[in-house]
Amino acid sequence: MAELKLLLKYRDVPGIENIDVWESCGGYEGLKKALTMERSAVIDEMKISAVRGRGGAGFPAWIKWSGVLKHTDAPHYLICNGDEGEPGTFKDRELMLKLAHQLVEGMIIAAYATNTDKGYVYIRGEFVEPAKSVRKAIDQAYAKGYLGRGILGREDFNFDLYIHMGAGSYECGEETALMSSLMGERGQPRLKFPHGALPVDAGVWESPTLINNVETYSCAPHILRNGGAWYASMGTERSKGTKIISVSGHVKKPGNYEIELGTPLMEMLDLAGGVIGGKLKAIIPGGSSVPILPAEKCVGVNMDYESCQAAGTMLGSGGFMVFNEKTDIVILMRRTAEFYAHESCGKCTPCREGTRWMFKILDRIVSGAGQPSDIDLLLNVCDQIDGRSYCPLGDAAAWPIRAGIKNFREEFEYWITHKKSPIGDDCVPPVPYRINPALIPLS
Ligand SMILES: Cc1cc2nc3c(=O)[nH]c(=O)nc-3n(C[C@H](O)[C@H](O)[C@H](O)COP(=O)(O)O)c2cc1C
Ligand code: SF4
Repeated sequence: MAELKLLLKYRDVPGIENIDVWESCGGYEGLKKALTMERSAVIDEMKISAVRGRGGAGFPAWIKWSGVLKHTDAPHYLICNGDEGEPGTFKDRELMLKLAHQLVEGMIIAAYATNTDKGYVYIRGEFVEPAKSVRKAIDQAYAKGYLGRGILGREDFNFDLYIHMGAGSYECGEETALMSSLMGERGQPRLKFPHGALPVDAGVWESPTLINNVETYSCAPHILRNGGAWYASMGTERSKGTKIISVSGHVKKPGNYEIELGTPLMEMLDLAGGVIGGKLKAIIPGGSSVPILPAEKCVGVNMDYESCQAAGTMLGSGGFMVFNEKTDIVILMRRTAEFYAHESCGKCTPCREGTRWMFKILDRIVSGAGQPSDIDLLLNVCDQIDGRSYCPLGDAAAWPIRAGIKNFREEFEYWITHKKSPIGDDCVPPVPYRINPALIPLS
């Protein structure tokens, strides 16, 4: 199966970052069509397309859009989540860098559909170049009358779009933490439904807020231009359309690939040129938060939400990381745990303490001081974090470690018994520390 390019179709067209070139490729046609329709009809088209949020959770986009439109009495806000902190995921970066008009057009369509007159593109702090591209696209869209007051002659439609740079915190990609950060507060999460309000009812400044991922908004111009039914004709029964997969690790051709949802996982690997440096050992299909799949479990899995879930993992944000046989899974898990310990916002105890404990225990194992009880201790810590944390970062920290032990327990046991890597001298070298494990108390 080949790539199926909708969002990435014009990626390599020279000058595509300029509005004239984007228009010559059909750009802003989707918006023009949307403006001939009732707002609710635009949302109906999104409903027919069945496009699901591409930020990780796969929630149907139209439900959020209609949730904002139903509020008639308050200002509404639109947010694009361009924080993209999930290790292994780099699709939003490319969408913003090269195809910023596609995103801006999608956001204007969403603003019209939800009757919103202010929007923000929240971009992670490190993404300086993508932010410049989005800035340029916004300026050009204003100059052409796609943004501002009375858009394309519609006196009832005004929309201003702003960029807000994050500060490089993974947690600020979580939607409630992102909203706190946008409002100038500490980047920590807020209570979620059913204990707190949904963003569509009370998001930023307690107003109805639509928050979607870069890729989700980028689908809207295509859906409006070609129709929801056209989009829904691609993919599987419950996972419609295409998905951009960021492929990294031990493959010949790493990069972003757009595939039809439902493409076999092993074909995804072939598209990226196949595994290099040895046989395939494992794949993490959806970013570092999702459970790792050993090679033997990859066969028969398809790249869609349901198939990945049935295989015990998730499609997530599409960060497809490939590991060859020279990868030491314990070292990989130590690095993963270090990331979550570093990024935990510290608001709740299970995650704040638990992520550091996991890192410390894993570090102890790869330092040759592991104890036979460490594996069960790690699993116990996972159980204490998963489902007991204030926001999903805690769960996301526990899942990969638990899956690493479940699928590769013998490698943990080898390290503890022999005090060295089961891979031997050929092992892929570990990356340097960002946290000094000696500073973490473990009692
Ligand atoms: C710790 C954490 C980090 C997240 N980071 C991102 C991110 O960088 N980008 C993103 O779109 N969604 C991220 N999400 C998911 C968002 O909370 C939210 O579900 C998403 O922005 C909704 O957009 P969508 O419906 O279009 O997927 C993250 C969630 C968690 C728990
Ligand atoms: S789980 Fe708790 S400590 Fe971890 S990021 Fe969320 S709120 Fe912060």
